[in-house]
Amino acid sequence: MTAPAIEIRHLSKSFGPVRAVDDLSFTVAPGRVTGFLGPNGAGKTTTLRMLLGLIAPTSGTATIGGRRYADLDRPLRTVGAALEAADFHPGRTARDHLRVSAPKAGAPDSRADELLELVGLREAANRRVGGFSLGMRQRLGLAATLLGDPPVLLLDEPANGLDPEGIRWLRDLLRSLAAEGRTVLVSSHVLAEVQQTVDDIVVISRGRLVHSSPLSELVALAEHRVRVTTPDRAGLLALAERAGWSLTAGPDGSAELSGVDAATVGHAAFTAGLELHELSARGASLEDVFLRLTAVTEGATR
Ligand SMILES: Nc1ncnc2c1ncn2[C@@H]1O[C@H](COP(=O)(O)OP(=O)(O)OP(=O)(O)O)[C@@H](O)[C@H]1O
Ligand SMILES: [Mg+2]
Repeated sequence: MTAPAIEIRHLSKSFGPVRAVDDLSFTVAPGRVTGFLGPNGAGKTTTLRMLLGLIAPTSGTATIGGRRYADLDRPLRTVGAALEAADFHPGRTARDHLRVSAPKAGAPDSRADELLELVGLREAANRRVGGFSLGMRQRLGLAATLLGDPPVLLLDEPANGLDPEGIRWLRDLLRSLAAEGRTVLVSSHVLAEVQQTVDDIVVISRGRLVHSSPLSELVALAEHRVRVTTPDRAGLLALAERAGWSLTAGPDGSAELSGVDAATVGHAAFTAGLELHELSARGASLEDVFLRLTAVTEGATR
């Protein structure tokens, strides 16, 4: 399968005074699972809604294989999307829900039962969706996105409400869909939830891109953090800026540098004649890195 890439270019969206998405650019490659991460209100759902043509961008573009969603020949056979709060008709059974949507997606009736089996809802096929738990709704939403066998999948917080077994199941499913060559974009506000699922990661905060790389590069960042204390704060800031290290202020006058190891910092400080009172390497969990990345821009935009 040769799936199209998703391209977000200088995308912005304002709701009155709120700049929900702010000059955002990133690419989602086929054959990989891309995690779209950011805290609540970061602009993830707004971005996905623009990609699906549900709302118009204030500026910039969001395209699939170079085309806007509205210009796709067969949108439901190209893109399967499950946004948050999918509204299912509560009186309909799970099977009927899929059967009703099947013709639009060009799928035969039999696809409904196949998909219910795939998402673990076979036994609930004849139950009304109104009585479904959050996790069951997520599974049904996922089944609906797969109806048209689309090469592109957009899933907004699909792990919400899933139990640990469900999260593992979702991981295996998304990995196998990407292994078939599909383009898979999955949003989450919890890195730990998708850490074992994604190949690439795009982190946004307050509508802006704060990080985009293969997951492995974020892991490398997690392993390199250095705590520094110095009486010459301005000197440290200048050094960090010259070297391109990101610097976070600690509460006790210390500073934390990331993306660099202690030896490099020590050497650079020595060369610059910068007095250091403390220099220590610190490990950080990936979640720490995520929190720091998203916190830095919050500070910067306030
Ligand atoms: N229709 C709207 N009208 C006004 N403001 C909106 C609208 N939709 C989104 N926003 C605002 O845009 C910002 C981004 O919201 P969005 O739903 O895209 O965030 P999110 O990253 O999906 O968050 P969450 O993790 O909570 O789902 C928020 O400040 C939100 O209040
Ligand atoms: Mg959202």
